[in-house]
Amino acid sequence: MGRLQDKVAIVTGAGSGIGEAAACMFAAEGATVVCADMSGQEEATAADIGAAAMAMHVDVALGEDVQRMVATAEERFGKLDVLFNNAGIAGRKAPVTEQDEGTFDAVVAVNLKGVFLGMKYGIAAMLRSGGGSVINTSSAAGLVGWQHNCIYGATKAGVIQMTKSTAVDFAERGVRVNAVCPGMTWTGLVAASKEQSEPGPDTRPPLSVPIGRWGLSSEIAAAALFLASDEASFITGVALPVDGGYVVP
Ligand code: NAI
Repeated sequence: MGRLQDKVAIVTGAGSGIGEAAACMFAAEGATVVCADMSGQEEATAADIGAAAMAMHVDVALGEDVQRMVATAEERFGKLDVLFNNAGIAGRKAPVTEQDEGTFDAVVAVNLKGVFLGMKYGIAAMLRSGGGSVINTSSAAGLVGWQHNCIYGATKAGVIQMTKSTAVDFAERGVRVNAVCPGMTWTGLVAASKEQSEPGPDTRPPLSVPIGRWGLSSEIAAAALFLASDEASFITGVALPVDGGYVVP
């Protein structure tokens, strides 16, 4: 028996990085997985997984897309048990005085509104099928200040607050809502950053991480898997750092 045996899961941002790792891990643990992304790479993730997956082109910032994503999961697979609201963008990094409204609107639309929409439609579906588990991807940057990170950090702090409030709202109706807060994790999002000059995941990241290396997508996915599974049946409303100790000092 897999840890998500016979569960139906949606993973957003499944085309790359943490979402890709989670989609593969959830499927390996017995789930049927809707791999949602807007990059086109969701097709490759679903193809890698095989029969237990389907790809969906979804922009998480659009209500109609998210509604369609959830409705498709229900129509095709009969229910929704697990929703990993993971898609996110970093946006341009700069101090607030050098930021622009376009970056603010874009990052808020994906990172914050996307999680809102996922929970709005996803939890409604979970209630129809007797409950479920939502995992939202926040960030260590939602827990502590980080240079040039006022917009991204604000969205990730907002994700934590939405997670906690929603956890309280649905705790008695069988829906658990938790967040993972990744630290510096070696993914496309990091590799594409103009601030990134490190050559690879085994090197010391630019910020102080007690464990002394970058996190791996699989390490964040493993935390999401735990929160998704029945092993976490008494856990709701937590924002779990998965960051090599970054937020400890
Ligand atoms: P990634 O860039 O490898 O993957 C993100 C995926 O989200 C991409 O496939 C992208 O196409 C998709 N995406 C972006 N906007 C979307 C939209 N509007 N609709 C649908 N899909 C969309 O990045 P990574 O690192 O795997 O990021 C996943 C999550 O983890 C994000 O929420 C990110 O903010 C968060 N995170 C990442 C950290 C890191 O160090 N890599 C640290 C803390 C949090």
